[in-house]
Amino acid sequence: MPDTTKQKIVLVTGATGYIGRRLAHRLLQKGTVNVRLMVRNKEKVQASIAEQVDIREGSTFEKPALEAALEGVETAFYLIHSMGSADDYSNLDRISAENFRDACIAAGVRRIIYLGGLGVKESASEHLLSRIETGEILSAKPDAIETIWLRAGVIIGSGSASFEIIRNLCQKLPLMITPRWVRSRTQPIGIDDVLNYLESSIALPHQGNLIVDTGSEALSFQQMMEQAAKVMGLKRYLFPVPFLSPRLSSYWLILFTPIPYKLAAALVEGLKSETVLQNDNAARFYPEIQPATFKQAVADAIHELEQNQVLSRWCDSSAEQACDIRDFDNPAGAVLRDTRIISFNKGERQEDVFRSVCGIGGKNGWFRYNLLWRIRGVVDKLVGGSGLSRGRRSNTDLRIGDALDFWRVVDLKPGKRLLLHAQMKVPGDAWLEFDVQPHQLVQTAHFLPKGLWGRLYWYSVLPFHHFVFKDLSKTIVNSATKNQ
Ligand SMILES: NC(=O)c1ccc[n+]([C@@H]2O[C@H](COP(=O)([O-])OP(=O)(O)OC[C@H]3O[C@@H](n4cnc5c(N)ncnc54)[C@H](OP(=O)(O)O)[C@@H]3O)[C@@H](O)[C@H]2O)c1
Repeated sequence: MPDTTKQKIVLVTGATGYIGRRLAHRLLQKGTVNVRLMVRNKEKVQASIAEQVDIREGSTFEKPALEAALEGVETAFYLIHSMGSADDYSNLDRISAENFRDACIAAGVRRIIYLGGLGVKESASEHLLSRIETGEILSAKPDAIETIWLRAGVIIGSGSASFEIIRNLCQKLPLMITPRWVRSRTQPIGIDDVLNYLESSIALPHQGNLIVDTGSEALSFQQMMEQAAKVMGLKRYLFPVPFLSPRLSSYWLILFTPIPYKLAAALVEGLKSETVLQNDNAARFYPEIQPATFKQAVADAIHELEQNQVLSRWCDSSAEQACDIRDFDNPAGAVLRDTRIISFNKGERQEDVFRSVCGIGGKNGWFRYNLLWRIRGVVDKLVGGSGLSRGRRSNTDLRIGDALDFWRVVDLKPGKRLLLHAQMKVPGDAWLEFDVQPHQLVQTAHFLPKGLWGRLYWYSVLPFHHFVFKDLSKTIVNSATKNQ
C-alpha cells in the first residue's frame, strides 16, 4: 500500500530551539511525513539534518518568508517565542502568532500544533500569560483553521532549563533552605513524552480546536529535588522556611545554576502557584501515551548527558543577535584587536589544531589560567550575564548557534575557522576568532567598544589578555600535538 501520509508536508518552526530541534530530529528519524523547517538562520541547522530536509529561512515578522515556508503545508508546528529577545516580548509574541495564523489560513494549512505552558490565567506569570495569549490567538479562527494547543509545565530533559536547575542544585548543595514556593505542586513531564504528544497530534483524528494539558504525577519542586537527588545517588537535606522571596530565590538560582536572572525569575514566578492539569484530554485523546514518571525522566536526561548525546539545550535560541565580525567595516580603527599568531610545523596537522580549537570551554576548560576565566565568569554572573556555567552541549562537537560558556558559536568552517561572539555583559561587542591556516594558528580577540566606557574596559583588561590569550593559542597548538 502506498504511504500516503508521506506526501503531507509538516512544517516545524522554531527548529533551532529546545523543543523544535528535538521534534525535527524525531520526525526525520521516523520518516513518516515530509518535514520542512522554518528557521531564522539556516547555518544553525546541524549539517546532518540540513542534508535531508527542506529548510526555509525567515521570521514570523516577514510575511513573504511565511508564505514561502507554508506553501503546500498540511500541518504546522508553532514552537516559537520571543522571551529574552526584548522587554516587550508579549507584544512581539502577539504579532508573531497573528502573522502565523493568518499566513496558515491563507496557505490552506489544515492544523496548527502549538506547545504552550501549563497553568491558568488568574495566577499566571507574565511569561505564562504571553504563552496563553499566543494559544488564544492561534485558535481564534476555528472556522478557518483548527489548532491543537498542547500545554506543558516543567519539562525534564537533558539541557532543559528546569532539569539544569534541579541537577545543579542537587549536585552543588547538600543542604538547602527552601522558600515557600517550592511547595506548590506542578505536573512535570519528560521531553520524550512531550515529543510523543507533539508527533501524535499530526494524525490525531479530531476536528476543531483542542486544548491538551500534559504532565505526569503532581509533585512540588521540593519533591522533584528529593527524587532527582535519589536518582543521582545523592543525599540532600531540604529545610523549609516561610521567607525567601521569589526575587531572592532567583538570585540564588543564578549563583548555583547556569540559568540567567531573567529566565530564573520567570521559572520561579511560574512555580509560585499550583500548575496542574485542567483537563484530561491527554488521557482521552492520546491513550497510547503513558507519561514516564519524574524519576524516569530524570534518569533518561542523565543518561543522555553521560552519553554526550544532548540534542538541544535551553540556551540554543539566540535571543541576542550574534553577527560575524566581518559584517563590520573598521572605520578609523573602531574595532580594537588582540592578535596572536602561533606557527606549527613540528608535525601538527591543520585538522588536529582545528580539533583542539573546537575542544575549548565547558568541562575541558580554557587550558591555562582557568581561574582567571572563572573569575571573569563570576563577574559576568554578578552583573546579570550568563557566566561560564552554561558549559557546552557536547564535549567533542560544536555547531553554529551553540552556547559555549559565555560565548556563542557564530561561524564554524570545518578545519578552518571558529568564531565566537561574546554573550557576557561588556560595554560593546566582542568576538574571539580562530583562523587555522596550513602552518599557523591566528587567534584574534576583536572588540567593538560602545563609547568611552567600552574603550576604558578594553584597556583595563589588556593586561589579563596578555596572559590569557597568549597562552591560549600556544596551548591549543601544543595539545594538538598531544592528541594526534
Ligand atoms: N523548553 C521548555 O522547558 C518548555 C516548557 C513548556 C513549554 N514550552 C513551550 O515550547 C515552545 C518552544 O519553546 P522552546 O523552549 O523550544 O524555545 P526556545 O528554545 O527558546 O526556541 C525558540 C525558537 O523560536 C525561534 N524564533 C523565535 N522568534 C522567532 C520568529 N519571530 N520567527 C521565527 N522563529 C523564531 C528561535 O529561533 P533562533 O534559534 O533563531 O533564536 C528558536 O528556534 C514555546 O511555546 C514554549 O512556551 C517549552
